[in-house]
Amino acid sequence: MTSETGYLLDNRQREAGRRFDALAELFDPWTLDHLDQLGLAAGWRCWEVGAGGPSVPTALAERVGPTGQVLVTDIDTAWLTELSGPATGPVEVRRHDVARDEPPGDGFDLVHVRLVLVHLPDRAEALRRMAGAVRPGGWLVVEDADPALQPLACPDERGPAEELANRIRRGFRALLAERGVDLAFGRTLPAQLRGAGLHDVRAEGCFPLTSPACRELEAATVRQLRGRLVAGGLATEREIERHLDHLRGEGMDVTTAPLITCWGRRPH
Ligand SMILES: C[S@@+](CC[C@H](N)C(=O)[O-])C[C@H]1O[C@@H](n2cnc3c(N)ncnc32)[C@H](O)[C@@H]1O
Repeated sequence: MTSETGYLLDNRQREAGRRFDALAELFDPWTLDHLDQLGLAAGWRCWEVGAGGPSVPTALAERVGPTGQVLVTDIDTAWLTELSGPATGPVEVRRHDVARDEPPGDGFDLVHVRLVLVHLPDRAEALRRMAGAVRPGGWLVVEDADPALQPLACPDERGPAEELANRIRRGFRALLAERGVDLAFGRTLPAQLRGAGLHDVRAEGCFPLTSPACRELEAATVRQLRGRLVAGGLATEREIERHLDHLRGEGMDVTTAPLITCWGRRPH
């Protein structure tokens, strides 16, 4: 992903890989559980949009097997290179901008996108394009954060360490809002999917309250954005060092923003 897109958490930075690992640990079991319940199976044709790292495409490929297809797209495919080798069976990786480019195919049994739309200026149009690439009877699954639903890093603000974590999280939210991120997007997904013509729309939220992966995601995000947080007067270098130090221990209960998972079926 290029910085011209306005995306705040540039994939080219080393921390991006750690963020993808933490996101996978936090959300892959939840995501795959939902996809499995929709019937994901051998032979399915899937489009994974804005994949980031290899974990979800790999899990999709295991399920669809050699008779299926997993088309994996991202505006920056740097973290997907291990998927492009000859041993990767049904997987194909392509550079693709879901905000601007035509869909790379149609008639998919499943189109899945996680934590991408919220960053796009014209989210509704991207969503319509993805919905249009689903076959009649197939599924679109969209997952996005809703930081405004639960804005704190530490809902249990029991001391100065948690107070600092919450202040830095407010700074992060301010940076996202400056970039046009809709901090209350997740909750709008059901209406958006129905607006895109999908039926049988359902949604659920996932909200890990604390875990090592929550701390790792927070640390990687803060390390990635520290320059911007300091330049914007949102935190000092010393405060960021203190916060990172707290995150190295096990005593801080730091959360992620709730992830809303919404799915709908294209009518026959
Ligand atoms: C927060 S990461 C999420 C990665 C992955 N989907 C996950 O949930 O772990 C956002 C991803 O969206 C990609 N992305 C951002 N804008 C995009 C666009 N316009 N088209 C395609 N991918 C995009 C980024 O390159 C990045 O890999």
